Amino acid sequence: MVNYQGILISWYQINKRDLPWRNTKDPYKIWLSEILLQQTRVNQGLPYYIKFVESYPNLKSLSNANEDDVLRLWQGLGYYSRARNMLSTAKELENNYRGVFPAFYSEIIKLKGIGEYTAAAIASFSFDEQVAVVDGNVFRVLSRLFDVETPIDSSAGKREFKILATALLDRKNPGIFNQAIMEFGALQCTPQNPDCNNCVLLHLCASKERGTVNQRPIKSKKTKSKPRFFVYKIFTLGNDTFIQKRTGKDIWQGLYEFPLEEFVDKKSQLDYIERHKNKLVYQSPEINHILSHQRITAVFLCFKAGLEIEESTSGLLRIPRSELFHYPVSVLIDNFLKNTNDLSFLSFDENVD
Ligand code: ADE
Repeated sequence: MVNYQGILISWYQINKRDLPWRNTKDPYKIWLSEILLQQTRVNQGLPYYIKFVESYPNLKSLSNANEDDVLRLWQGLGYYSRARNMLSTAKELENNYRGVFPAFYSEIIKLKGIGEYTAAAIASFSFDEQVAVVDGNVFRVLSRLFDVETPIDSSAGKREFKILATALLDRKNPGIFNQAIMEFGALQCTPQNPDCNNCVLLHLCASKERGTVNQRPIKSKKTKSKPRFFVYKIFTLGNDTFIQKRTGKDIWQGLYEFPLEEFVDKKSQLDYIERHKNKLVYQSPEINHILSHQRITAVFLCFKAGLEIEESTSGLLRIPRSELFHYPVSVLIDNFLKNTNDLSFLSFDENVD
């Protein structure tokens, strides 16, 4: 029997972010954090959580609040009905539950503004009830780990993933396990460019084995998404490099980029890279960049400095490399420049081989 639970929980204990709602079992605070984190990233939600708990440290104080004050605290987050529902549920709990948060999933789910996911999170994190959480992170981790092709937005998919998550749940530590699998999805098994080579589940991951990681999870209601295959060519000459401005009716109009080759499919992209291998000082890993209607697979190639640039550089802008950061660029290029820690290949001198 594979010990998925032990692997995920050990990973979590080492890698988890220190977040205030993780240092409590108070269902009020866990409820608040889960409502805040719906459609909100942790970094954005955290200051709201801190402010909210300062103003309303418990259920009773929230139940006595007035709606204007609560909405002001929520200002900037959007989805204001979440705040109104919280206030109404706090009043309901004070009036009809003697101010005590119900301790069972079957009761929690009855409360206004609390759906399956939030009820499962509160029941397991606060009360260690054996109920699995299934959020976007869990869908992604499970669909990759077991290479599940059922669309996550279908009713069959929802059922299947709930069953899978329930089967995988650590019965002794449901709360920690649920947090572990969610955190694993948020930090390790990320939607784009997951760091599979440094993954504790690598040897067990069916989609990694079959090469389908980037296609999981599957959604049925696909927004039409066109695959595109880019190779960016970085040329250096003395202290200079070459960029161009994007024109035409396409993405990123008006932004700057390295000279670009675009290919109709992955094979021709790889063939091109293969043909130029001996002229390179650096080849980036494949970068998957998702836009609302396009999926771009990009590779950056840095050609040997001083190498005769085979393609015409006419129409390219020759700039000192140090000025690269002054030009407006796409997030794809900005991330590449920021994330490629060792940009020394950009300062190779002529004649370096
Ligand atoms: N996203 C949703 N719930 C979360 C939690 N409890 N911790 C971190 N991220 C989350």
